[in-house]
Amino acid sequence: MRAILVGLGVVGQSLLQMLSERYEELRDRYGIGLRLVAVADSGGAITKASGLNPARVLQAKRAGGLKSLGDGNFTDDPLGLIGELEADILIDATPTNIVDGEPSYSYIRSAILHGLDVVTVSKGGLALYFPALKELAAHRGVVLRFSGTVGGGMPAIEFGKECGRSDRLEKVVGVLNGTTNYILSRMEDTGQTFRDALGEAQRLGYAERDPTLDISGLDTACKITILANEVLGMGATLSDVRVSGIEEIDVDEVRAARERGLAVRLLGVADGRRLEVSPQTVGERDPLAVKGALNAVTFKASYSGSHTITGKGAGGPETATSILRDLVAIKMVRVAEVSRI
Ligand SMILES: NC(=O)c1ccc[n+]([C@@H]2O[C@H](COP(=O)([O-])OP(=O)(O)OC[C@H]3O[C@@H](n4cnc5c(N)ncnc54)[C@H](OP(=O)(O)O)[C@@H]3O)[C@@H](O)[C@H]2O)c1
Repeated sequence: MRAILVGLGVVGQSLLQMLSERYEELRDRYGIGLRLVAVADSGGAITKASGLNPARVLQAKRAGGLKSLGDGNFTDDPLGLIGELEADILIDATPTNIVDGEPSYSYIRSAILHGLDVVTVSKGGLALYFPALKELAAHRGVVLRFSGTVGGGMPAIEFGKECGRSDRLEKVVGVLNGTTNYILSRMEDTGQTFRDALGEAQRLGYAERDPTLDISGLDTACKITILANEVLGMGATLSDVRVSGIEEIDVDEVRAARERGLAVRLLGVADGRRLEVSPQTVGERDPLAVKGALNAVTFKASYSGSHTITGKGAGGPETATSILRDLVAIKMVRVAEVSRI
């Protein structure tokens, strides 16, 4: 597999680390001998047809930036090299942008148009243009995978699809944002105000300095849009979601709910017709009443009932694992095709 990796931040660097530490295992156990023919960040890309060494790329990125690598060729137009380079797959770990989906949207679209399979962990382009991108991928006969966009390393999308196989999925309800869940569960457990709990989350690295995307509910909205499309087949985009966040939640409300055996959680809900993100109460023993920065998603099926998956919804190594999972899935699709010929 010849791969172009765009985005060398927390997730991209974790992937490089994993590729360098687990190369033999990935090759021998899963048949993934990944050759990195290009890596890119916001400053440009380094290309090398025979493959870049992931450990050396990581070292250069952390030390003096990609240009200090001293290997391969530099270009300041990473988007332009898709189509110029011989490659099989694009791995997109660029930032999430919910305004226009860029730069992820253009990378994904260009890769699909040039016949590359795609793995992305970036939510914006998908949440804004999911139906169009899926259609384009199907039309071009390429695989588009995005396991890490929902739940980090927790395989929520795959679990949901499995629950629906031979059954009928009616509804998806999820705690899909670790930051807001941390804040709400701290308000519940310690009686802190929203502002204090947010400050603590920022100090501990659970919340960004600008937490708007999380606390406004928009991050959850992106994820429930992706789940609704992939698992319920809804054909929705981000603008279809009614969103309210947790900024207005009062600690008295959280305390009162607790006294009634309930927990306030920011839930993303999709039921095949309606998409909504809002703070709601769940029973304190409900599997969705997870604590701290955990995520949980319940899939309600007509015949087999409700199934919940719980796990860490973010993190560099966790999300890099989801990329590897998607690479394995793509490899299996391609191997199955070859064996049919
Ligand atoms: N971190 C997590 O736990 C997590 C979990 C699930 C999903 N995600 C998603 O994964 C994606 C990456 O997250 P992250 O935490 O790794 O973000 P990050 O640390 O901000 O890294 C983003 C990377 O993208 C690069 N970049 C920006 N614009 C670019 C462009 N036009 N072309 C090529 N590269 C560009 C940045 O370059 P520079 O290095 O030059 O700034 C940086 O290397 C995001 O969409 C995020 O929502 C993250």
